[in-house]
Amino acid sequence: MLTIKNLEKRFGSLRALDDVSLEVEDDSIVGLIGPNGSGKTTLFNVVSGFYEKDGGEVYFKGERIDGLPPNKIAKKGLCRTFQVSKAPEKMTVLENMLLAAKRQLGENPFSALFMRPRVQKSEKANLDMALELLDMLQLSQLKNDYAGDLSGGQKKLLSLGRVFMLKPDMILLDEPTAGVNPTLRVQLMEAIRQLQKMERKAFFIIEHSMKVISNICDKVYVLNFGKKIAEGTPEEIQQNEQVLEAYLSGA
Ligand SMILES: Nc1ncnc2c1ncn2[C@@H]1O[C@H](COP(=O)(O)OP(=O)(O)OP(=O)(O)O)[C@@H](O)[C@H]1O
Ligand SMILES: [Mg+2]
Repeated sequence: MLTIKNLEKRFGSLRALDDVSLEVEDDSIVGLIGPNGSGKTTLFNVVSGFYEKDGGEVYFKGERIDGLPPNKIAKKGLCRTFQVSKAPEKMTVLENMLLAAKRQLGENPFSALFMRPRVQKSEKANLDMALELLDMLQLSQLKNDYAGDLSGGQKKLLSLGRVFMLKPDMILLDEPTAGVNPTLRVQLMEAIRQLQKMERKAFFIIEHSMKVISNICDKVYVLNFGKKIAEGTPEEIQQNEQVLEAYLSGA
């Protein structure tokens, strides 16, 4: 689904990504961990087209995507969430969900005019999907509240819902459970796993906590100072000396 080859990203003299190669297979959940400042978000920013790379290649479904702008990459079915929420604050939770879907279809006013029955049908389907997702994310009670009034954790949940509304083939999640309470965190991870099973999507997830990610990931990559220092199953990673050292010295 996603192949990254020898990716490089520099900020001045800082090598934020240093010769990083990795793969996310179809239908899999892959984790990306590493200490603060190790380059995780930068990797997502380059893959999703928000930053230009300084070297290397990125392939999505066999097609080269590095150099494409973010909207083109999203249209190809590779979507992401942000570490800090970007939901419009003056819209309600439900409106936020529907807006996310609307960007997919009927965005062109011309096509909306000629495909009215189709658009209406899709709007009903979108509404159903939005309500179902809000339920799953335990945001139903808040659906008519402004997104700006949500707590930090609830904003995280909403951004997850918004990205699901895009029906992507692959989702990049940047710390989806940061600030979410531990009970809901487990549920959220379980929801991601269910979605992956039901809809056969691929997930690439940045997390701080090795514990959180171990339960659901098929494979984990570890970054430290922009370099890939380990890859393997969660069990292998938890026992990897270099990884433990990086975490202890970094934390
Ligand atoms: N736009 C930018 N300009 C300059 N330096 C940047 C920029 N974005 C990131 N960096 C630097 O690149 C390095 C990697 O940052 P990045 O945000 O990718 O880390 P991270 O692994 O996501 O960390 P965290 O776990 O704290 O979110 C850091 O040293 C950071 O200061
Ligand atoms: Mg980050």
